[in-house]
Amino acid sequence: MEAVDALIRRRLDSDVALVRTIAEYIIGSGGKRLRPALVLLAAGAFGYKGTHHYELAAVVEFIHTATLLHDDVVDESDLRRGRKTANAQFGNAASVLVGDFLYSRAFQMMVSVQSMRVMDVLADATNTIAEGEVLQLLNTHNASTSEAEYLNVIRRKTAKLFEAAAQIGAILGGADNALEHLLARYGAHLGTAFQLIDDVLDYSGDAQEIGKNLGDDLNEGKPTLPLIYTMRQGDAGTAALVRSAIEKGGRENFGAVLAAVRECGSLEYTRAQAEEEARGASDALAGLPNSKYKQSLLELTRFAVERSY
Ligand code: IPE
Ligand code: IPE
Ligand code: MG
Ligand code: MG
Repeated sequence: MEAVDALIRRRLDSDVALVRTIAEYIIGSGGKRLRPALVLLAAGAFGYKGTHHYELAAVVEFIHTATLLHDDVVDESDLRRGRKTANAQFGNAASVLVGDFLYSRAFQMMVSVQSMRVMDVLADATNTIAEGEVLQLLNTHNASTSEAEYLNVIRRKTAKLFEAAAQIGAILGGADNALEHLLARYGAHLGTAFQLIDDVLDYSGDAQEIGKNLGDDLNEGKPTLPLIYTMRQGDAGTAALVRSAIEKGGRENFGAVLAAVRECGSLEYTRAQAEEEARGASDALAGLPNSKYKQSLLELTRFAVERSY
């Protein structure tokens, strides 16, 4: 991961100073670097010995960072990784444009690896993420969004990149077709668990720890699973309260909505769904020979559910 970080810094280079300033601002503020870790671990699990995994890990982190720059503009978020978001610090226009820089730099880098299979997977993943964000936009303020529609959004906007990261690691490592697809399945389940918990933390996390503000989802009128379940389980009054909070957005009703969410056990329900996804991720690895890489991949399924940041 140190090698990946060093590479990330080198590849941020640009003779346009503002590109460097903003890219370093967001990348330098940390982040868990989970997706690049998946690339390294998946490649390692198949005994990969080359150096392309560093490049591809950096590619995946660049794609992730580009989506965050754009996502924070769209979501009008103020806090990311414990700092002001790039849009709050430098403005929306600069954030969108530097997001484009990171996307296109990621594509330059992946071409350098010269694997058509890898490019195929990453091009599809990037396209799917964009669809996920657009689908989510369509569901904004729509309190009738179903659990299935919500899952469709998070599988695309979040799980797809986890899937691609694990899959390209396996491709690099020379996995056969069946194992490559098991690694992809592992990533898809892991990423779904990860986003389910993200949506729990938006109601119950510690802002200091997650480095983001609580209540962003309600503010944006996002019908995430904790709310969908509350409307399903609660009495008519509770359902009406949540419905109207989604339709209006804003933070005024956060306290009342959170009380309803807690009363209906909706965070527990969402966690249980995340547990199920994490189980799916572990199961997908059953046929993988044992190694320290496999153990770490399995530990990540625990982290995705138990994390508080
Ligand atoms: C944030 O992802 C976006 C989601 C998919 C929830 P991470 O929580 O992995 O963000 P960083 O990179 O660690 O900041
Ligand atoms: C994650 O969506 C962003 C992408 C995967 C593109 P969210 O909007 O739920 O994530 P946070 O809460 O801003 O990190
Ligand atoms: Mg967001
Ligand atoms: Mg969120």
